[in-house]
Amino acid sequence: MNPILSHVQAQQLLNAHKADHSALAVSLDLGRTYVELLLNASGVELPNGLHITWLDLDTIVRNQNNCFAVADDSTIYKIQEFSPEFNRLYSLMPTGENMRNGACRETAPTMLISGIPMHRIKGTDPQRDTKAKIRAAGPFTGPVLDTATGLGYTAIAAAQSAQHVTTIELDPVVLEICRSNPWSQALFEGSQITQLIGDSFDLIAEMADNTFAQIIHDPPMFSLAGHLYSADFYAELYRVLQPRGKLFHYIGNPESKSGRSVTVGASARLTEVGFTRIQRRRDAFGIVAYKR
Ligand SMILES: C[S@@+](CC[C@H](N)C(=O)[O-])C[C@H]1O[C@@H](n2cnc3c(N)ncnc32)[C@H](O)[C@@H]1O
Repeated sequence: MNPILSHVQAQQLLNAHKADHSALAVSLDLGRTYVELLLNASGVELPNGLHITWLDLDTIVRNQNNCFAVADDSTIYKIQEFSPEFNRLYSLMPTGENMRNGACRETAPTMLISGIPMHRIKGTDPQRDTKAKIRAAGPFTGPVLDTATGLGYTAIAAAQSAQHVTTIELDPVVLEICRSNPWSQALFEGSQITQLIGDSFDLIAEMADNTFAQIIHDPPMFSLAGHLYSADFYAELYRVLQPRGKLFHYIGNPESKSGRSVTVGASARLTEVGFTRIQRRRDAFGIVAYKR
């Protein structure tokens, strides 16, 4: 992968330059690993003969909602893609926790879909958000279905303990962003995760009965994908779930007006199609339900 930087690393490098340092250990994969980089008058030397100028680092600091990659000709570009098919702009957005001294502890990025973050980032971060979903959906006792790939965080986390994970993404352009995201790489490594492209509503209808031990359903909000909250869709989830299998359904903030009303409606429709033991999981902003 080409080097990727956010405002966190750019600020660290600019601070080191200001303090006349000639080298600094910095992450070029959004906080996953660190490398020692040499600083000079024009900028910073990167691996494989690449470099980045102080002016470009300044640009990155001023764009705190974007991650930037360094191209093979050492120019920088935002990690973002427009999907003409769905008329949506996807961009990788750094997240982090601001610490007392003004420094920032970087965590996995989220993706903005036409400006809306794909994960919870208020008072939490995408990793903690994913852990809460996985705690609610697990323990994993057989094959898992993940109905909405996104950046692949739930699929990747489930694959750490599940036998196998099948994950479905509607828009192939989302997977292009995943390819550029250091935190999504496990989606493309090994054979434990099967990726499918298409509408979960259509693809799940073609799957065999009683296939999955657990289902993680982390759809876009109700107003953007109402069919993924419909009784018809829930009936399909029920059908492909094994007897005594478990569904985790992310819904959104249970304290918000819309979160409350979607939870009530979804719970009623899940009951209608046969799900039982429906429980709210406030920690994970969702509900769990079981097949009889
Ligand atoms: C909230 S995100 C999922 C986040 C994901 N669980 C993760 O851990 O990164 C929802 C994703 O579902 C995708 N999506 C939207 N409609 C869909 C559909 N009908 N079928 C499958 N995926 C869909 C969106 O493009 C988006 O990437």
